[in-house]
Amino acid sequence: MRDKATPNDLLDWYDRHARDLPWRISPHARQAGAEPDPYRIWLSEIMLQQTTVAAVKEYFERFTALWPTIDALADAEDARVMGEWAGLGYYARARNLLKCARVVHTELDGAFPDTVEELRKLPGIGPYTAGAIAAIAFDKPAVVVDGNVERVMSRLFDVHTPLPAAKPELTALALEQTPQTRPGDYAQAVMDLGATICTPRNPACGICPWRTPCLARQNGTAAELPKKIRKKPKPVRFGTAYIARRVDGAYLLERRPDKGLLGGMLGWPGSDWIEVETPPHDTPIRAEWKTLNTEARHTFTHFHLRLTVKTALVPMDRAPARGEFVNSDAFSSNDLPTVMRKALDLGQGS
Ligand code: ADE
Repeated sequence: MRDKATPNDLLDWYDRHARDLPWRISPHARQAGAEPDPYRIWLSEIMLQQTTVAAVKEYFERFTALWPTIDALADAEDARVMGEWAGLGYYARARNLLKCARVVHTELDGAFPDTVEELRKLPGIGPYTAGAIAAIAFDKPAVVVDGNVERVMSRLFDVHTPLPAAKPELTALALEQTPQTRPGDYAQAVMDLGATICTPRNPACGICPWRTPCLARQNGTAAELPKKIRKKPKPVRFGTAYIARRVDGAYLLERRPDKGLLGGMLGWPGSDWIEVETPPHDTPIRAEWKTLNTEARHTFTHFHLRLTVKTALVPMDRAPARGEFVNSDAFSSNDLPTVMRKALDLGQGS
């Protein structure tokens, strides 16, 4: 082990300990000449934006079974894709996913560009994702900086500047470390190191391939890095959701507008969500509403939501003021975003 951190020490470790992931070409297969499919790398990176590897695996398998190529995804129906995305969160990403698939399909002949600069021009692809695709799919020495990489670099070089101000410094350090050989495997190796050894709490420094050069380990500061400016607490918003079921089993549902939170997703009609308890609103259909005694709670990026849930059984001939009845055989709770599914689960439990 050398005093200076080298990419080779990390790559040797990766050759032995790479995680087996459904979108990944193992380092052995890669060295034997197997090439990653840029479509699968792109899809996995979009899914992994702010979602865990464990949660993404199953979605990735389902998407690639349904739409094995970029051209197949580009031809898919919007509502079908939104339905399959339900539960992954951040629904703007699913809309951008489709937009991007259609641009690549129609304007680029189905082929993803292989440079960070060109990748960044595509919908839903920011600097991190462009770097990750260029590195992993095309083996380009692009700098790839996500939360894992920030944590690893801040520890390796004992950087105490708090995030987000430390970002440029950590990016520069990550760039210096990036090798010209096997940059794709290197990018994935840092991710794996951050996920399995250089973890936020209780890092397993004793078995780290960079344990000797790591300055935070030498200084005993690993567990307190990276420093972060404490975020403002999230505000609480309140709302009411109405779950109306017709006597034949159909549910009253409403597709949300494309723009905004949960845009394009199916949901229960209800009030706006605002920072006032019981926001004023009209009911979506005349009925005898029963208020559940537990609220549905869900946390979004910028606020916590406390949703009052009301349920009712309505006769066949009653017309709704909002939304449409969806027959029970055309509806699965898996089509709903998580918050709406939580509301339904409460209703079914009562
Ligand atoms: N997190 C983001 N991208 C990843 C990838 N390609 N492999 C593992 N974890 C990741």
